[in-house]
Amino acid sequence: MMETITSVEEMKVWSRRICGDDKVIGFVPTMGCLHEGHLSLVNASLSECDSTVVSIFVNPAQFGPDEDLESYPRTLEADKEILRSTGVDVLFLPAKEDLYPDGFQSFVEIEGKTNYLCGKSRPGFFRGVATIVLKLFNIVNPHTAFFGEKDWQQLEVIRTLVRDLNLDIKIAGQPIVRENDGLAMSSRNRYLSEEGRLSALSLSQALKTAQSRIEQGERSTEIIRNEIRQMIEQKNGTEVDYISVCDPEDFSESEEIRSRTLIALAVRIGKARLIDNRIIERA
Ligand code: PAJ
Repeated sequence: MMETITSVEEMKVWSRRICGDDKVIGFVPTMGCLHEGHLSLVNASLSECDSTVVSIFVNPAQFGPDEDLESYPRTLEADKEILRSTGVDVLFLPAKEDLYPDGFQSFVEIEGKTNYLCGKSRPGFFRGVATIVLKLFNIVNPHTAFFGEKDWQQLEVIRTLVRDLNLDIKIAGQPIVRENDGLAMSSRNRYLSEEGRLSALSLSQALKTAQSRIEQGERSTEIIRNEIRQMIEQKNGTEVDYISVCDPEDFSESEEIRSRTLIALAVRIGKARLIDNRIIERA
């Protein structure tokens, strides 16, 4: 039976009790509007851990003033239904007032790798993510926490947080789950119109084409970047935010494509800002 816990205090009591029984807690933090991508993390936790906690919290601290905090899709009843059928032990649904009470003034800042990619186009985003994730870790006390490679930079930022602040938590990254046609699953795909949905296909297609081009021998970062941009901008209503061909850990770019490369991109289509990425290992 899935238990729903809304109080921070109760969540702490639950997790300290479970740890006392020497059980391994797996944790999947989310903002809800659950899809197969989230469920792949849940299933990984269910198979690796004794107990699984999933949190749903749309974290105001990670949204900029002009972003979609108010309109972010909230589908709590459907989410509960999905989770109940998986065998998750606890759904943690904290209240905003409980996590950010009056007088809240402590934030976690990760330097360096947050200056690139999404950190550059969404100032304050990773400060908000790192802060809520550290808070949730302290409340849920997990042994292992599961994050998707869909948000590659977020995963790297969390790994850095755990290492730098000496947290005893294993971070497990999980591969990107895609629709049949290649579009990376995302809660924000709901914002797409029919035409936008078609244009959105160009993200995964351009990444795939770039991979073939690199495998065939192309070594110029600039050429690859331009080709990706062209493929995406050919489609109606797309506006490229960034395209980066970079180091998968520190996100620095070099002129020549290295043996292991991350291609990451963010594109606006109508109201949606979509991200996708691909790791390319050169022969
Ligand atoms: P959210 O966007 O709900 O994503 C929750 C987790 O699901 C993240 O680890 C994300 O990488 C993973 N995920 C989303 N789409 C995926 C896909 N198509 N394939 C694989 N994994 C996918 O990321 C957040 O929430 C928030 O920033 C959070 C970490 C919860 C902090 O507020």
